[in-house]
Amino acid sequence: MKVLVIGGGGREHALCWALRRSPRVTSLVCAPGNAGIAAIAECMPVQQTSVVDMLRLAEAVQPDLVVIGPEVPLAAGVVDALSADGIRTFGPTQAAARLESSKAFTKDFLQRHDIPTARYTVAHSAEEALAALPGFALPVVLKTDGLAAGKGVVIAETHEQTAAAVTDLLTPGTALVLEEFLQGEELSFFALCDGEHAVAIAAAQDHKRIGEGDTGPNTGGMGAYCTDALLPDTLRDELLREVAQPTVDGMRAEGSPFKGILFCGIMLCPDGPKVLEFNTRWGDPETEAILLRLETDLVDLCEASIDGRADAISITLRPGASASVVLASAGYPASAQAGVPIHGLLTATRPGAEIFHAGTAVSLNGETITAGGRVLAVSASAGTLGDALATAYAVVDGISFAGMQFRRDIGYRALLREEPEDAPAISSNPG
Ligand code: AMP
Ligand code: GLY
Repeated sequence: MKVLVIGGGGREHALCWALRRSPRVTSLVCAPGNAGIAAIAECMPVQQTSVVDMLRLAEAVQPDLVVIGPEVPLAAGVVDALSADGIRTFGPTQAAARLESSKAFTKDFLQRHDIPTARYTVAHSAEEALAALPGFALPVVLKTDGLAAGKGVVIAETHEQTAAAVTDLLTPGTALVLEEFLQGEELSFFALCDGEHAVAIAAAQDHKRIGEGDTGPNTGGMGAYCTDALLPDTLRDELLREVAQPTVDGMRAEGSPFKGILFCGIMLCPDGPKVLEFNTRWGDPETEAILLRLETDLVDLCEASIDGRADAISITLRPGASASVVLASAGYPASAQAGVPIHGLLTATRPGAEIFHAGTAVSLNGETITAGGRVLAVSASAGTLGDALATAYAVVDGISFAGMQFRRDIGYRALLREEPEDAPAISSNPG
């Protein structure tokens, strides 16, 4: 089979890596890709915001399967356009991708279908937002309606911060979600959906803040880990029964069947799991950890979704644990210094580890250089989380570039719970 992957981050490198392991894949193209992906796939340039460009590319490549990585092409309707052209494409339609592209749609949807989530109001003007505020205790959560690459959420602790967030987030023509602040631990739960069924793939935990001990500004994700202990059978069944399956049923009943990956951002609250958000795609960097453990052929998994057979496929993960540690550029998340040479990529290898490239490029003199905020996702799997992390950090220690930032404490919550003797010492005490 010839497979075309759209995207060029760490998630897409991991997707390409997993597709390369499938005996069914004979040819792999990725657009636009990055310096790491270029070693395992033919990379082609494409504008991920232009459905016309992606359609033209697919018509030229003639793939047997297209896998869409990021949310932007999904929200632009690339699955609708390619499918209408007879090209088999994994992912949700534009209407189904509203579960990620519109937070106001999603909150109303969750309420219509009685799926647990934080209490909320949607405001269309600053006046409406300010009038609704007395109904919420501080801190209050404010979310911009559309895609914002992780930058559209403010947790306001004071009335001044709240007023400033309303002004910042509410641009003309957009809506704002005001939401009750939930306390608990976060979980990323991934379900494979085929329009009718939702089946569990895995759970992972992301580390969104730039700083150790969960301090500093939010990022796209600084690292993730995937263990079985994160998803006991009872929790898996509860998340399928209370969240993923009712979501698939509701989207189908409303005429927008959901196919693809439903990434449920969950807060594990004392009174049960609640939906923080949905993403309609694989997570980044969760995918770099999860795919290291996925035993199921990724092509089979995609096809089961496209063909409405998700309930018939057996999804298995290798026993043990996996983790990914993100290496980011100086200035990230506010900005990103690009064009900096990366050292150690060829020598810092270890059995069980993979260096997934995110923002990388090749310079004119053939050096691998930084080309974005998140540069690499160093990932490893092993029998225990402690060993997976030790392997990943051994690789990290062999890589360097000027201004490199990363967190030493990926997986610390799980280590404290499961392997306290391996846990890093952190001074702060995050919720
Ligand atoms: P979202 O994009 O909606 O997932 O929000 C980004 C991050 O903001 C989440 O991963 C949480 O850390 C935090 N967050 C969002 N909504 C809430 C909430 N209602 N209560 C507490 N934290 C939240
Ligand atoms: N790691 C969070 C995301 O992919 O949105």
